[in-house]
Amino acid sequence: MDYKKIVAERIKELVDLDLEFIENLIEIPPKPEMGDFAFPCFQLAKAMRKAPQAIAGEIQEKMNKEGFERIETAGPYLNFFMDKGSFVGVTINKVLEEKEAYGSCKVGEGKNVTIDYSSPNIAKPFHVGHLCSTSIGNSLYRIMEFAGYNCIGVNHLGDWGTQFGKLISAYKKWVDEEALEKEPIKELLRIYVKFHDEAEKDPTLVDEGRMHFKRLEDGCEEEVKLWERFKALSLKEFENVYKRLGVRFDSYAGESFYLDKMDRVVDELTEKKLLVESNGAQVVMLEDDNMPPCIIKKADGATIYATRDLAAVLYRNDTYNFHKNIYVVGQDQTLHFNQIFKVVDLMGYECAEKCKHVGFGIVKFADRKLSTRKGEVVLLEDLLNESISKITEVIEEKNPELENKKEVAEKVGIGAIKFTYLKNKRGKDIVFNWSEMLNFEGETGPYVQYTYARGKSILRKAGEIEGKADFTKLNSKEAFELVKSLGTFQESILDSIEKLEPFIVTRYVLEVAKNFNKFYNAYNIMSTEDLELKVAMLQMVEATCQVIKNALDLLGIEVVEKM
Ligand code: ARG
Repeated sequence: MDYKKIVAERIKELVDLDLEFIENLIEIPPKPEMGDFAFPCFQLAKAMRKAPQAIAGEIQEKMNKEGFERIETAGPYLNFFMDKGSFVGVTINKVLEEKEAYGSCKVGEGKNVTIDYSSPNIAKPFHVGHLCSTSIGNSLYRIMEFAGYNCIGVNHLGDWGTQFGKLISAYKKWVDEEALEKEPIKELLRIYVKFHDEAEKDPTLVDEGRMHFKRLEDGCEEEVKLWERFKALSLKEFENVYKRLGVRFDSYAGESFYLDKMDRVVDELTEKKLLVESNGAQVVMLEDDNMPPCIIKKADGATIYATRDLAAVLYRNDTYNFHKNIYVVGQDQTLHFNQIFKVVDLMGYECAEKCKHVGFGIVKFADRKLSTRKGEVVLLEDLLNESISKITEVIEEKNPELENKKEVAEKVGIGAIKFTYLKNKRGKDIVFNWSEMLNFEGETGPYVQYTYARGKSILRKAGEIEGKADFTKLNSKEAFELVKSLGTFQESILDSIEKLEPFIVTRYVLEVAKNFNKFYNAYNIMSTEDLELKVAMLQMVEATCQVIKNALDLLGIEVVEKM
């Protein structure tokens, strides 16, 4: 039940203004004593040729007050106090009726959205930065799907480029076949790093790598076979990670997928007279937009990352006729995407406007740096395992009797990491701090999961209770605040979609969990003798659990029934 909407509709019955305009003016007062909603009348004064105070008085007098406890004026403001009993009942019933669909809507119906996320590089480890893209992208996918959009998750694998020439060269010199079969990415990384070290001493290696890449591009059998093998081995490892994370994609069209689609880009650019020569390279000048030129073909004729991304925009536009084309990629690639979108715009495609780079900050550890070149990366597997083992310790201490400890630790451990990535605005850097992330009492994944499990335990203990709920008896401040937060789920979802910011949903579920814990501490549910009140409270607990579950699901985090 969207009370804000009701307030807006009732006001609209009395004034000749756009509903949306009215809705946007409605505020949530800073203090509960000032009502649940407030409407300032300043903006009406001009149109109605009356003082705002007078307008407030008039609306107050004439408005249909059903569902409200009272409506007061405070100078130019109207303050609305909801009738708590009916509001509580209506909201809880709605959650319990709609269950896993509660919060969903159809605003996105009939609209295709491509979401490019995760997109790791073949033969390189999946590191904590990719996990950031994976968590945010997966969450955006879930959130938008919940709002009715038809999402297409694309894993734009980094499976093409000069680095594969180097890798082939390194492979031929130093590979340990046994290690390659056992831990492929680790071995590929080892020889790749070795290549760079050796190349510092012997620069001819670089030419050799270049030669192999050229042969790969020309389709020479040996190089193509090796490249395919690296790709298959890497994908197998990535897929294990995705399975563990509960993430899937609708398309694995990576960079190599666009090899035969780049000529079109070059041809169109030439035709539209956008391509110019610069130091032997073919580029599109972007000086009017204060950007360096976008290189399309290097001096040796090779295409680059940007060329493939241009081909990808056109391909996605043709294939999916997207409403939005989203790229969840670190902020270090902001310039790259601005260049791509600008070139598409210069080519005359309207879809350029629908392309969005959803950037994020960098992941930091107190004393570790991330870079694949030197091989000092924090590997995803290590990160997940560390989190899980730390959670296992906490469980051993708090609840050693727990039955399925391993499963719980996996869900809570992985959930804690995802939650950390999704907790703040994307642009902020992400700082990993274990004791903070895993704190059962902090603003964390485990805290929310623990709140859910606590609710579930109350419901288990109470068992089936016959009786009717009287929601008017749930009249405390704590109960009301909790229900109010349950009622604004959809608003958070829509806000998160508008800003392409999953943290809005993360903050939302934290708020619900906090309100639930206040409610839980304010009442003694189990020993309540008044049956009508007890049933109302239990339904409130059930509704809260449902909302937490729905919201965590949008973050890609699973709940546990006991912990
Ligand atoms: N593979 C790239 C990287 O690891 C990310 C690719 C992002 N997607 C894209 N369409 N460029 O940095």
